[in-house]
Amino acid sequence: MRVFIVYAHPSEDSFTRHARDSFIRGLEAAGHSYMLSDLYKMEFRTDISEAEYLREANFNEGAPLPEDVVAEQNKINSSDAIVFIYPVFWTEAPAKLVGWFDRVWTFGFAYGNRSMKQLEKALIICIAGHSLQRLKEYGHFDAMKTVMLGDRMFDRVKSKDLIVLDSTSKYDAEARNANWDRNLETAFEAGRRL
Ligand SMILES: Cc1cc2nc3c(=O)[nH]c(=O)nc-3n(C[C@H](O)[C@H](O)[C@H](O)COP(=O)(O)O)c2cc1C
Repeated sequence: MRVFIVYAHPSEDSFTRHARDSFIRGLEAAGHSYMLSDLYKMEFRTDISEAEYLREANFNEGAPLPEDVVAEQNKINSSDAIVFIYPVFWTEAPAKLVGWFDRVWTFGFAYGNRSMKQLEKALIICIAGHSLQRLKEYGHFDAMKTVMLGDRMFDRVKSKDLIVLDSTSKYDAEARNANWDRNLETAFEAGRRL
């Protein structure tokens, strides 16, 4: 499969970066090819401009799209699967990735008369400071699934899943270290089994 990875973490000094690399090793072990958009490295602009807002708000499919948006849309349409890898920031994705959706999920592409290819698979890999048990207890896990799978992926993909690599906070270094290998193995297997 051709896999498009949308990656959003501001630092290479992070567990998320290791998770991304393990996932990619898994993909390669299974013989998949991949493209990577590293949103912070690319300095992808994530504030929607007024012109872009007016295009969406007025459902004006004829209005031109910025080149960087078209480039992302072309990567999607030349892929079979899409994977998002990011740290959980306040139960959401980092603003960098939220803004990517604001700008790339445009009218005529992701909604309306869609030109977006229906992808075979979407996989969301979130890195969380808290334990999965706590995220479930407070309803945060369900909130993340509702937004990412229920709204953003919706029926744009044939199958979808969200996995959490949890207990990675530096606040509890012991738990972070104790879960490090297990989480990297999960990321590797996610790539291998995609
Ligand atoms: C601004 C900010 C907000 C965060 N919000 C959450 C959160 O809501 N839930 C959570 O489980 N972890 C949260 N975290 C922890 C991150 O997911 C954290 O980056 C991760 O546990 C450590 O992984 P890393 O080394 O890849 O950054 C937050 C971290 C930051 C910097």
